[in-house]
Amino acid sequence: MRVLRLRRTLGTLLALGVLGGSVSCTAAHGDDARPADDPPAALTPFEALLPAPASVRAAGPGYALGPGTVIRTGAGRDGEVRRVGELLAQQLRGPSGLPLPVVDGGRGDGIRLGIDEDAAGLGDEGYRLESGPGGVTLTARTPAGLFHAGQTLRQLLPVTGRGTVPGGTVTDRPRFRYRGAMVDIARHFFSVEQVKRYVDQLAQYKVNTLHVHLTDDQGWRIAIDSWPRLAEYGGAGEVGGGPGGHWTKEEYRDLVAYAGERYVDVVPEIDMPGHVNAALASYAELNCDGKAPARYTGVKVGFSSLCVGKERTYEFVDDVLGEIAALTPGRYLHIGGDEAHSTPAADYAAFMDRAQAVVGRYGKTVVAWHQLAAARPAPGAVLQYWGHDRTTAAEKTKVAAAAKAGHPLVLSPADRLYLDMKYEAATKPGLAWAGYVPVKRAYDWNPGAYLAGVPESAVLGVEAPLWTEAVTTRAEWELMAFPRVLGLAELGWSPAAALDWTAYSRRLAAQAPRLEAQGITFYRAPEVPWS
Ligand code: ACM
Repeated sequence: MRVLRLRRTLGTLLALGVLGGSVSCTAAHGDDARPADDPPAALTPFEALLPAPASVRAAGPGYALGPGTVIRTGAGRDGEVRRVGELLAQQLRGPSGLPLPVVDGGRGDGIRLGIDEDAAGLGDEGYRLESGPGGVTLTARTPAGLFHAGQTLRQLLPVTGRGTVPGGTVTDRPRFRYRGAMVDIARHFFSVEQVKRYVDQLAQYKVNTLHVHLTDDQGWRIAIDSWPRLAEYGGAGEVGGGPGGHWTKEEYRDLVAYAGERYVDVVPEIDMPGHVNAALASYAELNCDGKAPARYTGVKVGFSSLCVGKERTYEFVDDVLGEIAALTPGRYLHIGGDEAHSTPAADYAAFMDRAQAVVGRYGKTVVAWHQLAAARPAPGAVLQYWGHDRTTAAEKTKVAAAAKAGHPLVLSPADRLYLDMKYEAATKPGLAWAGYVPVKRAYDWNPGAYLAGVPESAVLGVEAPLWTEAVTTRAEWELMAFPRVLGLAELGWSPAAALDWTAYSRRLAAQAPRLEAQGITFYRAPEVPWS
């Protein structure tokens, strides 16, 4: 370890240019920055699976995919199994160029997808993958489980998509129900196409939730029919003064459907009662003094608040949340509640009482940032913890008390899972208020024993947010997310016993050719033994 640390220090000095101006970043992140051990032997396809599965038994010869391979889907769930088979075929055809026709049922060789509702050990998202010379059989209790099985199958094949699936059985199911990533399209606007690309990138690693931060001081990004100026005026700007933009409802529905086909649930967030300058700028009547402020293109937080004492505010909340709920097939609706520094505590609690009641009336479950713990979270409300090592014990105790009272927690520790934090001082985009978050730090912690007094049973799952104050392009987005978001995927899915940095870092290194083949920009972190 000491050798490793010294070498990393050397790498950092090189990156900072301290040890000679002509040294490039590549050199700094090359051999000198690597762990001191010999290069690891190549992993078998089973060993390289990421997230690590619950159980693998390698046995005998496997199945060679070829021009004659067909994908067989049993009937079930109104054609949904067929659709999962079609999507898998599409994913496998891409790199391999094989025809891979999808056929209804029948016996014979090939890739077989089937539902077994009695496969009790597999839960709602688990699966079994059995591979031998006659084919590969994917079994699950649900179509979601079959989808995840298909993603495991993709990883068992070479990057080219042509080759042999090794013989054996994978039996797998997730540790946590909620495995999420968040995107902030408010600080800088991003298109639905970019977010769909991220959904594909995430779903292959069994992430099942996409939280979209749709509104903030700098922009309102979703059309609301009853308050059209929110998007038309409040969406026309972003951090740094760019044009911004917004999504139509049709675009939003298209994203929800696209994600749904990949078993990714979209959780919309309308942040309240703070982070609302874009709304206040769009409608003077939402302001206590009746005067609309200017649009905002800076990066400060905590300066805006809805007018808690005005009834019009609650008509606004009802209209907006009603329209958002109507766009949302999933159960969760996120109402923010963070950094309401311009809302007195009593007003905050009163406002959140009413906003939570509206969510309930529209048949949804509240998610809010963990500041809601200091007010009155509604029964069943989910709290998203975004503290860090320097968060006060008093604040953590409030969150633990809420968990004890039955509020499930989603853990997004800012100094572990905030993807907008720089990896190290030399990282180009990103922020550092929670510290640097190297790839190892993002992975090497236990969500089941993270907050004192919060047992694993109170943890619904984990989520990695990508805030975009300092992220402006697709390349920057991907550089900050990859490879850290793969650590999130494994923390959310793999059994606690499988979590091990050294083993994980080798699995991660083995993913590099897949990330490259998909054109994903990623950070070649010095602590990972990339080959
Ligand atoms: C947050 O980072 N303000 C939730």
